Order: sequence, then C-alpha cells, then structure tokens
Amino acid sequence: MRKITIAIDGYSSTGKSTVAKQLADWLEYVYVDSGAMYRAVTLFAMRNGYISETSFDKKKLIEALADISLEFKKNETGKAEIYLNGENIEKQIRTMEVSELVSPVATVPEVRRKLVKLQHTMGEGKGVVMDGRDIGTVVFPNAELKIFMNATAGERAQRRYKELVGRGDTVTYEEVLENVTERDHMDTTRDDSPLVKAKDAIEIDNSEMNLEDQFHIILQLAKDRIAGRI
Ligand code: CDP
Repeated sequence: MRKITIAIDGYSSTGKSTVAKQLADWLEYVYVDSGAMYRAVTLFAMRNGYISETSFDKKKLIEALADISLEFKKNETGKAEIYLNGENIEKQIRTMEVSELVSPVATVPEVRRKLVKLQHTMGEGKGVVMDGRDIGTVVFPNAELKIFMNATAGERAQRRYKELVGRGDTVTYEEVLENVTERDHMDTTRDDSPLVKAKDAIEIDNSEMNLEDQFHIILQLAKDRIAGRI
C-alpha cells in the first residue's frame, strides 16, 4: 500500500498528539511530535539561563543551537520519547513552566529553521504522522492529508488541566486556561510560520467528540486518501 504524509495542526491541547499517535500505530507509520522538539529547546534554554519569566537572551540561545542534539527513541511500551543530548526529557518538557516559555522560543526563526530541517529528515521516507502548528503549511506543504484541529478554549483547558492534575502537578484550571489562550495568541500572531489553517486542510472541531469517534473519522480520511478515493 502506498505510504503518505499526514500533517495534523491546530491550537494547543486539541488532542492532536493523541490522535496522531493512534493513527501512526494503526497505519504502522512513524509519529513525530514537533511540539516536543520546541519544548526540548525551551528546556535547554531554561537550564542554561537563556530564558526565564523575566528575561530572554535570544542571541545566546541562537549561538548555542549547535550544541543541541535531539532524537526520538521508543520506550519499552513502544511510545516515542524525546532525548536532549542523550538524556530522556519526556517528563520534564510537559510541565507548566515549559508551557509558559515555549511560545516565545518558538518565535525565533533560527530555532524554527533548525527544527524544520530535522523534521524534514524524520519525514523523508513518507509513512509519517507529524503534529504541530506549521506542519501542513511550512514543513510538509505537499502532505497528502492535512487535518486542522480545533475545540473551544474552555474545553481544551479542561482537558489539559485534567492531564496535569492526573500526573500530580499542582496547577489551577485558571492558570491552564490562561496559558492555553496566551499560547494561541502568540502562535497565531508570530511572523515566522504562524498557526494558520492550510487551504487544503480538513478542519475538525472535537469539542463534543469522544476520542474513539475522532479517531475513526480521521482514520477513515487517511484510508480514503491512501486508496486515492478522496
Ligand atoms: O501539546 P500542546 O498542544 O500544548 O502544544 P505542543 O504541541 O507541545 O507545542 C508547544 C508549543 O510549541 C506551541 O504552543 C508552539 O508555540 C510551539 N510549536 C510550534 O511553534 N510549531 C510546531 N510545529 C509545534 C509546536
């Protein structure tokens, strides 16, 4: 069966990575979480003191970009986890602290250029599902299937809040809602590769959709696209 490239873009906490993972498992494709890569660069910048709540030394971060090596490796359950210079940082990148600083880091063109280059290599052989903000517009503008995910901000914040609390983090719903809204604003208004729906993307609002229904709708679209029916 021919292999295609599937791009899933959308606002924060719309469940892009959940459905992208399910799809990649079902189709036996490679899954790439591009957001994890921006989060990893953010963690690197935090650890080196290049960014904090009150300051951001873009020049230092740009100079140090060559020292960042990123890769995804599967753990014992088959889930892809991200490594920064050989260290598994999958847990550390999902904190609120990283969520609060990632969008400014993602505005830096040099950061984007480095990560997009890596993403091209990862998706080279087709048979890839990649999720993010600019996958269908910038990274793989020729992707055979493009999905644009959306849901109300309240619903998205609720989902992310449950996820964080479930992991033992101490956050309030209001903090999460503020973060989701702020990131949406920064991601859609930045100059370089802003979050925008590609012309040929299929928009799915999953505010009132359960995970199973959402998966079946998107899997059907993928099967139809692979078979050339749509
Ligand atoms: O999981 P969540 O929806 O909260 O976000 P994510 O996919 O982990 O992405 C984190 C942040 O990275 C986003 O808010 C964007 O600022 C940035 N990002 C980006 O600029 N381009 C991408 N392709 C993916 C993420």
